[in-house]
Parts: sequence; structure tokens; C-alpha cells
Amino acid sequence: MPPTWETVERYPLNAPFSYAMIAKDPVSSNKKYYVDEVPLSATEAALYTTLLGILESELSAPRSQVDPRKYFAEHAAVALKKYSIQIPIISWEKILYFAERDLVQFGVIDGLMRDIYIEDISADGVGRPIFIYHRKYQNLETNIVFKEDLDVDNITSRLSHMSGKHVSTAFPIVQGTLPGRHRLAATFRREVSPHGGTITIRKFREDPITIIDMINLNVLNHTLGAYTWLLMENRATAIVVGATGSGKTTLLNALLTLTRMNSKILTIEEVQEINIAHSNWAALVSRQSYATSDETAKEVGLFDLVKIAMRMRPDILVVGEVRGEEAYVLFQAISTGHGGLCTLHADDADSAIQRLTSKPMDVAPAFIPFLDLVFTVRRVSLPRPGGGFITVRRIIYVDEVNSVNDYVRVFEWEPSSDSQITQPLKKSAKLSRLAKDLGITVPDLLTEIRRRSMVLKWAQNKNLRNFRQLSQLFEEYVSRPKETYAKVEKELRGFGITAAEIAEEIKL
Ligand SMILES: Nc1ncnc2c1ncn2[C@@H]1O[C@H](COP(=O)(O)OP(=O)(O)OP(=O)(O)O)[C@@H](O)[C@H]1O
Ligand SMILES: [Mg+2]
Repeated sequence: MPPTWETVERYPLNAPFSYAMIAKDPVSSNKKYYVDEVPLSATEAALYTTLLGILESELSAPRSQVDPRKYFAEHAAVALKKYSIQIPIISWEKILYFAERDLVQFGVIDGLMRDIYIEDISADGVGRPIFIYHRKYQNLETNIVFKEDLDVDNITSRLSHMSGKHVSTAFPIVQGTLPGRHRLAATFRREVSPHGGTITIRKFREDPITIIDMINLNVLNHTLGAYTWLLMENRATAIVVGATGSGKTTLLNALLTLTRMNSKILTIEEVQEINIAHSNWAALVSRQSYATSDETAKEVGLFDLVKIAMRMRPDILVVGEVRGEEAYVLFQAISTGHGGLCTLHADDADSAIQRLTSKPMDVAPAFIPFLDLVFTVRRVSLPRPGGGFITVRRIIYVDEVNSVNDYVRVFEWEPSSDSQITQPLKKSAKLSRLAKDLGITVPDLLTEIRRRSMVLKWAQNKNLRNFRQLSQLFEEYVSRPKETYAKVEKELRGFGITAAEIAEEIKL
């Protein structure tokens, strides 16, 4: 770190061996992320390389599953004795740390993989620093740089192997799932990436972002949450649109949590990212092909999976991201009464439907009215209280789809209040259809939305945010609405929240 820079924050990644450090240039305010790792002295580094060399040449690969760290420790100790090498215990501990990091864990990027604040890791070639997306500080350059092609080759081969995939000059693109369900996309050597191999990792969250987390982060407000919950519970079909990394898959996952627990859900993805608590959930993941002549290595694409999924009779069919002809089959499914959800790369409802109805997706315009809702997510800049700007994710529009070119915008994000403004819901065709189906009136449904809005506020105040807890709460509310609501209302008063504060503006 340059001598004039200041430390902003430092926290352990793998104590006492590695720490994260965020540092700032006081003049430009530029920040950088340092993986602060215990250094090996020149002698230790040489010894480590020698030991790896000896073990590589003298040992055959273990036949059964062994713990590689233990295996290394035992055999390295034998080698030390054999060649009469003496080392202090401190050096030995450090060497074992690096052995584990490189043989079992994620190698040079292990620290980044351990940092729960990091969402994305991207290495864009040789001689360029690795960049990360940090939950607190957004995009940051790191102090990790691959100096030569061989460094990238090693880590790419290692990561591909860890995700059970193969990468080589013949197959220079790899997409897979790393241990811990992190999503990997990499290119090998300079075959398709002239700056050198690239690695992109989207970190998986064991504990997905839920609707309550999103309310806490102000991605949406309670009223929009309640409206969405009511429609999702009644099996609305929806697509989430936005740019890369805008939070489409995350919102899709949160929407699924709002559906009934007994629904049969079938998810189809290229890399598994969806994570829900439903017990009747089957996940299908597409497969790349490696050899063309070998029958067993046949490619299985999203299209093949969507076709087979139809025979599995799902209540809700989910395609992680539609790009091609699988969209056509998905819309066939929803036109025959299945629930359906997907994400799509587009700017808003209009451009999403343009994309859906043109090649290669080619969904017939007659199928579009079967789509109920389009959620548009975007990363937007907001002024930070202390000056400057902060990038946040927001649901900026919710449109009800009637047909091609006929949408009703029911919610729209307003930058000045940083909240979604509810448009008059009397034009909501989806609510009037639902009211008819349930044999009640639209005003009844609006009352229901207000009640659910309170349930969400209650969950937020109780700090109920985990997807399993929430699925349970939603199920409880739907099966025993009166009792659950009575409890919620009473407790909310206990939190000092009055009915007037709770009743958000819902216009008819
Ligand atoms: N509202 C949010 N607040 C904070 N982090 C979020 C939010 N939504 C998503 N994220 C994080 O941002 C990253 C990208 O989100 P996500 O995968 O949902 O985006 P995406 O639009 O589906 O991206 P892609 O186009 O690559 O599929 C993830 O690491 C996710 O955890
Ligand atoms: Mg996605």
C-alpha cells in the first residue's frame, strides 16, 4: 500500500493468515482492496516449492479419498526427515497454510472467496488487477494480479476441475458451479480472450436475499411487497427484466418464496442459482457437450429441459434466464395454465416483449396476454447524505401486461422520495380478474393488500428475514389469515406503530 494511503477497514478472512484490508488515497478518495496475507520469506517460499516438487515426483496419487491437507502434512514431514531439512515451527505453519490454500482451497483467490462481503470476482487478463464487487464499497481494484499466462492457466484449470469441468485450448470456454455453489465462467489462454485468460465468479449466498431483506434495503416498499405476494400466491406469471447484475435472479428467487409451499416447482437454469425452501422442488441444470461423437456427452440445453419439464407437470415452471427458443416452450406452458417465471435481459416491459416476440425467442403475440407481470430492476445512483453518490438496486417499474403494447404501470419508482409510487389500482386488470376468481371485489383485495403490507412490516420489525422462516410465515398467514393478522396487528401496536402509519397510500 502506498505510504500516503489510509486504512479504511481491516477484517479477518482466514485468521491469523489472511485479512481483508480496504485502503484509501486521501487525495483522490480512490479505494483499493488488499488481501493482506502472511508472507513467505524467500527461504520459506523456496522450501515450499521444493516440498511440492518432491511430493509430486515421489508420491503416486492417493487411491482413496484423503484429506489433502493431512496428506501433504504427513508426506512433507517424511520428506523433511529424509532430506534432513530443519525448519522452525512458524515457517511450517505458514507452509501448511499455503499448501492448503493451493491444494484444497481456491488458490490465490481464496481470500476473496472467503470474504462474505464480496459478490463478484473478475479477472480480466494477464497483468491486470482482479476486480471485485464489495457489498459495502461497490467496485474495487484488488492487489491480486496474474503476472503471466501460466498463473492464470493454473488457477483456471484448478477452478474448472473443482467444478467438474474440463478446460483446454480445444475447449477454451468453461461455465460451471464451484464448491459452495459459486457460479464460474472462464476463458482459457488467449484462444478467445486476447488479453489472456479471464475468470468471473458470481458468489453464491447460502442464505438468499429475501423480500424482507429487499424491503430493508429499500429495493421495494411494503405495499409493492404485499401486492406481489397476493399475486404470486395466486400463481401469477411474471418476468424480471434488467441489465447484467441488476438483481434479476435475486428478485426471481424472492418471488418464488411468495408462492404456496405445496406447489410443485421446477427450475431450469444453466448454472444453479435458485435456492428456495419448497419441498416439492425439482431443479434441472443444462449441460455443455465436450465430445461430439460420444453419445454420453450429448449437450442438454435449456430447450431440451423445458420440453421434458412439461411432462413433469409442474405448477410453476421457472427458467432462470431466457435467451432462445426455450422462451417459446415456456410461454406454451403458461398458456396452458401453468405458472411460469423467468428473467430476461432488457430495459423495461416494452423492450422485453419486443425481444420475446422476435427471433430467436419467437413467442407468438397471442401468448403474451398469458404473462401477468413484468418487474423491471435497475442499478441507480442516489445522492449519499455525506456527499457523492451511492449505487443501489431498485424495482423501478411493475407493469401488468394485457397484450403486446398494452401495459398498465401499477408501480413506478420515484427518485426524489426513493420509493415506489402506487398508481391507481382500479385499472388493474389482474386484480379485477383475481377478485372475480375469488368471488370478492377489488376493494376487498385492496384491504387484503393493506393487511399483507402490515404482515411484512411486522416480519421486518421481528427481524424475520430468513427464507425458510418467511416461507413458513406466508404459509401460516394464507392458511389462517384472521388469527395471524390479529397477532400481527397487536404486536405492531406493541412496537409503537400505529394503524395510520401502517396504512400506506393505496388508491383506487
Ligand atoms: N437488492 C440487492 N441488494 C444487494 N445485493 C443484491 C441485490 N440484488 C442482487 N444482489 C447481489 O448482486 C449480485 C447480482 O445479482 P443477480 O445475480 O440477481 O443479478 P442478475 O441480474 O441476475 O445478473 P446476471 O445478468 O449476471 O444474471 C449478486 O451477488 C446478488 O447477491
Ligand atoms: Mg441472473
